[in-house]
Amino acid sequence: MAEAMRHPDIAPALPDQGSPSRGTPDRGLFIKTYGCQMNVYDSGRMADVLAPLGYRLVDDPAGADLIVLNTCHIREKAAEKVYSEIGRLRPLKARRAKAGGRLVIAVAGCVAQAEGEEITRRAPDVDIVLGPQAYHRLPELVALAHRATGSVLDTTFPTEPKFDHLPAALSPSAVSAFLTVQEGCDKFCTFCVVPYTRGAEYSRPVAAVLDEARALVGRGAREIVLLGQNVNAYHGDGAGGAWSLARLIGALARIPGLLRLRYTTSHPLEMNVDLIAAHRDIDILMPHLHLPVQSGSDAVLAAMNRRYRADDYRRIVATLRAARPDIALSGDFIVGFPGETDADFQRTLDLVDAISFAPSFSFKYSPRPGTPGALLPRPVPEALKAERLAVLQARLDAQADAFHRAAIGRRLPVLFDRAGRHPGQRVGRTPYLQTVHVAAEDSVIGTVREVAIVRAHANSLEGRLVLPPAEVAA
Ligand code: SAH
Ligand code: SF4
Ligand code: F3S
Repeated sequence: MAEAMRHPDIAPALPDQGSPSRGTPDRGLFIKTYGCQMNVYDSGRMADVLAPLGYRLVDDPAGADLIVLNTCHIREKAAEKVYSEIGRLRPLKARRAKAGGRLVIAVAGCVAQAEGEEITRRAPDVDIVLGPQAYHRLPELVALAHRATGSVLDTTFPTEPKFDHLPAALSPSAVSAFLTVQEGCDKFCTFCVVPYTRGAEYSRPVAAVLDEARALVGRGAREIVLLGQNVNAYHGDGAGGAWSLARLIGALARIPGLLRLRYTTSHPLEMNVDLIAAHRDIDILMPHLHLPVQSGSDAVLAAMNRRYRADDYRRIVATLRAARPDIALSGDFIVGFPGETDADFQRTLDLVDAISFAPSFSFKYSPRPGTPGALLPRPVPEALKAERLAVLQARLDAQADAFHRAAIGRRLPVLFDRAGRHPGQRVGRTPYLQTVHVAAEDSVIGTVREVAIVRAHANSLEGRLVLPPAEVAA
């Protein structure tokens, strides 16, 4: 069975790009984003950086002069996707060259960081390889690529944070906008590439975050999702010293016009008392938390270097639920980590039964070159990994179904963020991150409305606007 994601799709569309400034040529930019929300945020910033050069986003690679593949290295399959995509782009590039033009292909993101040299060797069609910390240098790299015949590589970790060099975006924001507040990771879980691809943990200063949040709200954002690989380890410089994530959330919650706040992804070890209290005290902080657990076995957790035991996780969840009884929890799980026995796996199932999760992610362990996990003895055979994943997913699916069904008959505040696929359909989210489809006017987009939930599907809900359509509190 393929590894599967059992989670609502929370990536909003890339923000529209403003029109290029006067006198600059009009060029097509196609960005394909893989991986986590941080990559979605980064893709938006890359579009912002390229806008002053006349690049505007197109949705068909055939109309592009520059194609950026923003890649993910987290599992082998994710990393391999980039090479097949480059293969698909080859004829396009050849056709353009034949017509006397030039299509520039850039590989960005975590595969670029991890396999920079290898990409240039395996895929000579690639003109630019740039790591996640080099986006602000894109205009320079594009200019270099136009002059060069070979490929241009920048996978350095500049000491100056890239955020200081990114221009302010001017285009309308998505209703639900991502805002990266923390990047990188010092936790070194033995299965994970992130500390190597994203570098050391870094928190953006409070003032920069508040400015960007105010600007997003000014451009139409009504929900902000704070992003970081370890977002709850946030400790950005602010008035009086380093601020915790809870303190940052408190300040953000006072921005007029901002209706909802979320943050992701959190590490259980960093789930401290003030952040838990924020879930009780701050109305606009939504009652949904993504808190990856990975395994329910202490032996496996120790081998993964997660630095908590299954009981610690249970205790954190109990404290969270005491503070905010309706909080929905989603998890990440890895099955088949080296040395995982049937009894270990059973402990994961026991934990799932004890917690009861909202829609979650689950994966087969994928050994990543350069991580300590890849060198561990007693690998679990692929077939057994697949079997365990199927069992775990059946259990998680049943919990997700129950979670959605429990909403039927309830009235929930829904923040509408986009039009649906069918005529007259609008789509929004409940506080618990469930997608809801409702028949409604366009004017509901960007507002929170009360919705009566009438039906539950596998990955979404269906509801009816409660009339009169007065705006309700988030
Ligand atoms: N920072 C987050 C997770 C980031 S990666 C945290 O600490 O929880 C997202 C998820 O991908 C992880 O939670 C994990 O479940 C999964 N993952 C990471 N590396 C993996 C690997 N080598 N094989 C399988 N799944 C992996
Ligand atoms: Fe990876 Fe662990 Fe860091 Fe999460 S905490 S990004 S899983 S090393
Ligand atoms: Fe993938 Fe890099 Fe995100 S490896 S999950 S894109 S941090």
